[in-house]
Amino acid sequence: MSFREVLTRREAALYLEQVAVADLAERFGTPLYVYSRGALIERVERLRRAFEGAPHLLAYSLKANMNLAIVRTFLDHGCGADVTSRGELERALRAGADPRMIVYSGVGKRADEIERALEVGIRMFNVESLEELITLDARAQALGKVAPISFRLNPDVDPETHPKIATGLRSSKFGIPIEDAAKAYAHAESLLNVRVAGVDCHIGSQMTSLGPLRDALLRIKNVVLALHAQGHRIELIDIGGGLGVEYSGHDDPPTPEAYAALALEVLGGLDATLVCEPGRVLTAGAGIFVTRALYRKQNADRKFLIVDGGMNDLLRPALYQAEMRIETDPLRAGDRAPVDIVGPVCETTDRFAEQRALPNVEPGDLVVIRDAGAYGFAMASGYNGRPLVAEVMVDGSRAELIRRRQTLEETWQGESIPEWDR
Ligand code: LLP
Repeated sequence: MSFREVLTRREAALYLEQVAVADLAERFGTPLYVYSRGALIERVERLRRAFEGAPHLLAYSLKANMNLAIVRTFLDHGCGADVTSRGELERALRAGADPRMIVYSGVGKRADEIERALEVGIRMFNVESLEELITLDARAQALGKVAPISFRLNPDVDPETHPKIATGLRSSKFGIPIEDAAKAYAHAESLLNVRVAGVDCHIGSQMTSLGPLRDALLRIKNVVLALHAQGHRIELIDIGGGLGVEYSGHDDPPTPEAYAALALEVLGGLDATLVCEPGRVLTAGAGIFVTRALYRKQNADRKFLIVDGGMNDLLRPALYQAEMRIETDPLRAGDRAPVDIVGPVCETTDRFAEQRALPNVEPGDLVVIRDAGAYGFAMASGYNGRPLVAEVMVDGSRAELIRRRQTLEETWQGESIPEWDR
């Protein structure tokens, strides 16, 4: 176990820090996301300590969980931000981020998004195509600015993760092929309104072994050495995010210490600040998703447990067949029997677990999904007319709403019926 478990049992009841999950469900309703502030801090501090041996910037990747309270917690502990849209940029700024600690990644930055990032003066644009570079140069010129850039290099390495979250293969849309690096940097040098600041790569998410990352970083190192030889000053080396977490008994992710040690070992001697864009490793294990059991039934030879949370609230099991650990509250006696845990959404794929051996659950009991702090709420939608759920942060024995549940009226806010039909 890489981190201390945040969800504990006291007799039959579940607790997050000092607060009973049943009390949270009662007070804030279900479905509900709850995050432990202590766990967020433990994770970020541990990663920060692991990188202490070298100049570094932990740019929290907002895509994992962009709630302002979460972002603020990481900013308070020395992080910058990795953003991928204007929306994330504004959130980072709103949470109090120093623009000099923001990097901007993504294959499809629009001109208006680029302009805003130039205006506030971010640390680096991770450029993903030559056409993006040209747009960036033009927008910078129009604003009388110089854009600090890196190229996101695609090292053609298989991160050995779920194919839907692998990004470092030649066939993916991400980055530019690593063998085109010299040409790309030479092109950047020829432009007046961009300035070469670094190199960048991100090969995939939920990586549970370091081998692929080692391969990728060695390739990046060679590029940096070649760029040095051509007279480029590389002040930032961005290794992306991707460190995996333990979702089920089968995953055995590297520790933050081993991860940082690898980065320092391969890239430490290059006289650059290491940038890392952690998302999942900082938030996944700090969060839970709390649902309430509604009904039980049996169709043919399958038992189903229907809960009030659905794939629209937590998409990972439906989209990536993610196996996430599940707890029940109260813990009832009796044999464990395999059951499909499903939500109310009208899709067969709306299933949190298939044939999972769970203790007895009765309608009204809580069914809690662990490690839901990353890519949980962040990927939620209003599918099937379902309001976005509430989010709560717990700190010791305190619990505070950090996003209230959407009201039904808000779910159709902004829509209107055309005049001809009124
Ligand atoms: N940097 C870049 C450029 C990225 O594309 C990502 C994730 C990260 C950093 C953060 O990676 P992390 O440390 O969280 O692995 N929705 C999927 C994960 C998609 C990841 C997308 N990019 C899931 O639920 O598994």
